[in-house]
Amino acid sequence: MAKKGPSSRIIAVTSGKGGVGKTNFAVNLALALRQMDYRVVLIDVDLGLANADIVLGITPKYNLGHVMQGEKTLQEVIMEGPLGLKIISGGSGITELANLDGWRLEAFVSSFEQLNQEFDYVILDTGAGVHRAVMSFVLAATDIIVVTTPEPTAITDAYGLLKIIHQRAGHAKVRLVVNMAKSPAEAETVAERLNSVLREFVRWEVEYAGYILTESQVVRAIAAQQPILLSFPSSMASRSIKRIAGVLAGEEGASQPMGFRGFFARVSGFLHI
Ligand SMILES: Nc1ncnc2c1ncn2[C@@H]1O[C@H](COP(=O)(O)OP(=O)(O)OP(=O)(O)O)[C@@H](O)[C@H]1O
Ligand SMILES: [Mg+2]
Repeated sequence: MAKKGPSSRIIAVTSGKGGVGKTNFAVNLALALRQMDYRVVLIDVDLGLANADIVLGITPKYNLGHVMQGEKTLQEVIMEGPLGLKIISGGSGITELANLDGWRLEAFVSSFEQLNQEFDYVILDTGAGVHRAVMSFVLAATDIIVVTTPEPTAITDAYGLLKIIHQRAGHAKVRLVVNMAKSPAEAETVAERLNSVLREFVRWEVEYAGYILTESQVVRAIAAQQPILLSFPSSMASRSIKRIAGVLAGEEGASQPMGFRGFFARVSGFLHI
């Protein structure tokens, strides 16, 4: 029997509206999972805009675009962040993926198999909205976390995005995180409101995974390019993010882990529809 390769839970952190706190959440979620001793890689799948690197204070020289061009090996573009977190910058590679033809795509996907590291979690920090290349990564993930704030425009955009996710990513476990809430009660109201609209119009609901309150330490940590989990470990935000990491880790059976080959096959399937 063929040996089954390593498989990971691939969690896409995304949102309808921009600037809702995805990157801050994704980076610190990755670190919280590292603190729980999971093997974690964070991949920045935002288009060109180095994002996760900013929160972490790391400047990547190479990205997946260089791997696709054959200039660098995957091993060479992996950076090491705090707590041994591995980081890969998508950079130009995310849009280039759509233009790769058969054998080049195959070569690129195979490069992930040569990765002599296994990961329990792959965290994808995505750009906002529904750009096709980014959306393909989101739809291909095993788990999707949609981040919204209580702002009406953010909720409306989250609803639009969730409708697409529900239609196209039936395999994924989908969760909601409410960021920049004034209180836990406000966050719960946001989740409940979104779910009542989803129930009414698409007969579906999303799992509410938790909230992060608006807190000045988050802004200070980002300004200092120090992940809040490390710079203010006892802040409310750090505790909330750890709680959400605990929820995710506790629901291991909720989604079907997969290997990089299967994941990229799925991404390219969505890209070429
Ligand atoms: N819990 C919070 N409390 C206070 N401010 C926050 C919180 N979360 C995020 N912010 C603020 O929102 C800003 C945007 O956060 P972040 O860059 O993580 O959002 P994003 O969704 O990744 O944005 P983009 O769509 O541009 O990628 C931060 O710089 C910070 O000032
Ligand atoms: Mg971001």
